[in-house]
Amino acid sequence: MSETKTFNIQTFGCQMNERDSETIAGMLEEMGYLPTDDRDSANVAVINTCSVREHADERFFGTLGQLKKIHETRDDFVVCLCGCMMQQQPVIDRIKTKFPWVDLIFGTHNIEAFPRLLEKVTREKERQIEILPDGGAIVEGLPSHRLYRHKAFVNIMFGCNNFCTYCIVPYTRGRERSRRPQDILREIEMLACDGVCEVTLLGQNVNSYRSEDGTSFAQLLQEIAKVEGIERIRFMTSHPKDLSEELIEVYRDVDKVCGNIHLPVQSGSDRILKAMNRRYDAARYLSLIEKLRRARPGITISTDIIVGFPGETEEDFEDTLALCREVKYDSAFTFIYSVRQGTPAAGYKEQIPEEIKHRRFDRLVEVINACSLARNRQYIGRVECVMVDGADKNGGGMLGGRTDGFKQVHFPASGGEKAGDFVDVKITEAKTFSLLGERI
Ligand code: 5AD
Ligand code: SF4
Repeated sequence: MSETKTFNIQTFGCQMNERDSETIAGMLEEMGYLPTDDRDSANVAVINTCSVREHADERFFGTLGQLKKIHETRDDFVVCLCGCMMQQQPVIDRIKTKFPWVDLIFGTHNIEAFPRLLEKVTREKERQIEILPDGGAIVEGLPSHRLYRHKAFVNIMFGCNNFCTYCIVPYTRGRERSRRPQDILREIEMLACDGVCEVTLLGQNVNSYRSEDGTSFAQLLQEIAKVEGIERIRFMTSHPKDLSEELIEVYRDVDKVCGNIHLPVQSGSDRILKAMNRRYDAARYLSLIEKLRRARPGITISTDIIVGFPGETEEDFEDTLALCREVKYDSAFTFIYSVRQGTPAAGYKEQIPEEIKHRRFDRLVEVINACSLARNRQYIGRVECVMVDGADKNGGGMLGGRTDGFKQVHFPASGGEKAGDFVDVKITEAKTFSLLGERI
């Protein structure tokens, strides 16, 4: 009897990468491999890389250093690399010269090739590198090993056409391609049959979703809302320049679309927004927020903000703080600008000194955290419908879940609750990043 082989996948970066890792895991299981949490004893170690997060390169090459040691001692250890970094030629060149022992590399446009390439590596013991420069036709029907039973991520489009001047994504994920609505709906119907009650639709810019038959994102949401068993629909990310009136109406009319939006602003300064090629100004952004709040009272709003973009003056930064105070975000992902080689902003002259960037970052976080806490305090005394995600990691008989507005809520288990249950929780305490409550 042959011994069962195992795999481990380490995923860096965004939900898009998490979703790709689910596909890779599904393919490995179809090939007869079993998942393991212990990367160093696995037969196949996959590193799904990210180019967006800060210090991604350093961390990645550090991880490769660790893997090298294991690779030297074990013949049955296959190291596979994939994800956004593999779409960057300088990275591939460096791997080829400094880490020639890596067994398999594929990119973001040919995940479906992975089983064939792995077969070749294991059978022919020959290194496989296959990267496509851009995305071809979307491949449907790939297997998936889902992270959760009660909620799921669903890609609706791939790539990005926006070329924000700081961002590497258009170069690593290629041009926008939207899936056909019937393929998306079939996938969601199957998920619903399998017990999934919440779907998060994924795309770099879901607002510019448009299928070949002309279906818009708002129309797609309306169709998904008809799927029986799906109670909550979320999506990310929305680009303000493409947020349509039609989508605002969906927020007004379709209850299953959750009262929450992630709407990256990046900066509150019109000058910097222009230099970032964001194609909206602060006034337009604020008018969208107002319309959303009118259409869906109580909607929660989160954002992404970059501090220290080249040329950002103290005044520009103050504009960002002022915008944050005006919007009063529920939460925000804050980033310190860092150069991504190959993007236009990498060549901009007025790079901001690290010290100034860090100081601005700390000031921004302070403003954001104060807004988050103030927003969360408004929930005290309210009853919220919470979808249970499961037991808290640090135990103590506490459960964790999310409100419709994506607020994290912790409350004592009263027995019998399971992931995917909807329960009413009275909020008793507010923290910066979460709420505490009791079941009623
Ligand atoms: N520097 C800092 N933050 C960045 N982001 C993207 N590229 C960069 C960069 N070069 C941030 C943006 C984006 C989020 C996913 O990452 O805010 O919305
Ligand atoms: Fe990057 Fe801008 Fe595309 Fe978002 S919209 S992925 S920030 S280029």
